[in-house]
Amino acid sequence: MFVFLLGLALILRGEASPTPTSTDGRIILRDLAAPRFFGAAANTTFLFNDQNYTRLAETQFSIFTPEREMKWPTVHPFPNVFNFTPGDEIVKFAESRGARVRGHNLMWGSPLPPWVNDSLSATELDRALKNHINTVMDHYRGRLYAMDVINEFISDTPNATFKDIIWTRKFGEEAMAKGLTYARQADPEPKLYINDYDIEAINNKSNSLFEVVKSLKKDGIPLDGIGFQCHLTLGQVPPDLQENLQRFADLDLDVAITELDINLRGPANETAYAQQAKDYKEVVRACVAVKRCVSVTVWGISDDYSWIPDGEVLPWDREKQPKPAFFAIAEAFSGR
Ligand SMILES: *[C@@H]1O[C@H](CO)[C@@H](O)[C@H](O)[C@H]1NC(C)=O
Ligand SMILES: *[C@@H]1O[C@H](CO)[C@@H](O)[C@H](O)[C@H]1NC(C)=O
Ligand SMILES: *[C@@H]1O[C@H](CO)[C@@H](O)[C@H](O)[C@H]1NC(C)=O
Ligand SMILES: *[C@@H]1O[C@H](CO)[C@@H](O)[C@H](O)[C@H]1NC(C)=O
Ligand SMILES: *[C@@H]1O[C@H](CO)[C@@H](O)[C@H](O)[C@H]1NC(C)=O
Ligand SMILES: *[C@@H]1O[C@H](CO)[C@@H](O)[C@H](O)[C@H]1NC(C)=O
Repeated sequence: MFVFLLGLALILRGEASPTPTSTDGRIILRDLAAPRFFGAAANTTFLFNDQNYTRLAETQFSIFTPEREMKWPTVHPFPNVFNFTPGDEIVKFAESRGARVRGHNLMWGSPLPPWVNDSLSATELDRALKNHINTVMDHYRGRLYAMDVINEFISDTPNATFKDIIWTRKFGEEAMAKGLTYARQADPEPKLYINDYDIEAINNKSNSLFEVVKSLKKDGIPLDGIGFQCHLTLGQVPPDLQENLQRFADLDLDVAITELDINLRGPANETAYAQQAKDYKEVVRACVAVKRCVSVTVWGISDDYSWIPDGEVLPWDREKQPKPAFFAIAEAFSGR
């Protein structure tokens, strides 16, 4: 009778058995995710100043992306000045926890430091880019799992393939190929990625990227993976996410969820948190279902430090307590 009631209770909760745990009884997402990585965007401001944040960072994640610490304005503020201090802190932290690092990023439209502007000729910009990529890749040699070489190049409107940004203005269709080639020449080890947003569904933008990627592959340009950012809105996980990941994987590429968060865009209440958990689960399940999907990274850790200050977007709340989304991620990584 007891067994029956227990079973019934579990069925009513909609699961076959209790939430999966690690051997010591705690739920550790980095363990449940293996062999995939579970990652977070890390921010040095909090990593070394809020113990509760640090505690989550060091126990739950197996890969970190520096939120801003490796972007041009930080790393290369003036033509011959490089600043690797904040990026190094994240790399050292990750290594001390046996976690990997996803470099982020080498080419992006903005922000850029003021000295990288349209007054540079294509030749000057090319020289600056090559110097940037060589110096960054050389500095982090042997320490990066992957590098987002290209960030957010694809146009949001179907009347153009690329966004109108300094790289495409100066280099035209060669812009991506240039960055990817320089990165591979500088260091053959890290996986080289193109990363973008609003490409999660099969839509005009992801179709556009798909054609670009096929053409890069045909031309023999080095490219190892596609990052799907997944800054999503409550209740709006694209139903064809898995199918879309799979079609890129079928081009012999890794795929990764790189910046996942789910914006409530409304009041935080039990209903919203339940839907958010469902959404997180759907995204993680899509990754787990695709053999070449190597990681799920959330963009931040707890709601108080998200780049979206009032969206309650992450799996941990402002008190660093796990939300329903946290348990949903655990289930999805465990195949439930
Ligand atoms: C860290 O968590 C503990 C226990 O939940 C809490 O008492 C403390 O105030 C938190 N510290 C900060 C800086 O939020
Ligand atoms: C960390 O996050 C805060 C708040 O969003 C932001 O102001 C700061 O620039 C971030 N620091 C880095 C190094 O990304
Ligand atoms: C634009 O770039 C050039 C070359 O790096 C630099 O000399 C100039 O100061 C920059 N302009 C602005 C407004 O920063
Ligand atoms: C594409 O359309 C958008 C508006 O939908 C417009 O702002 C932009 O200038 C157009 N770009 C091109 C290259 O025609
Ligand atoms: C793609 O673009 C076309 C032409 O602008 C438009 O009619 C169509 O609705 C778009 N499709 C999607 C899936 O957005
Ligand atoms: C709870 O959140 C949902 C989703 O944001 C919203 O539609 C609903 O109105 C909220 N309920 C209350 C009682 O605030």
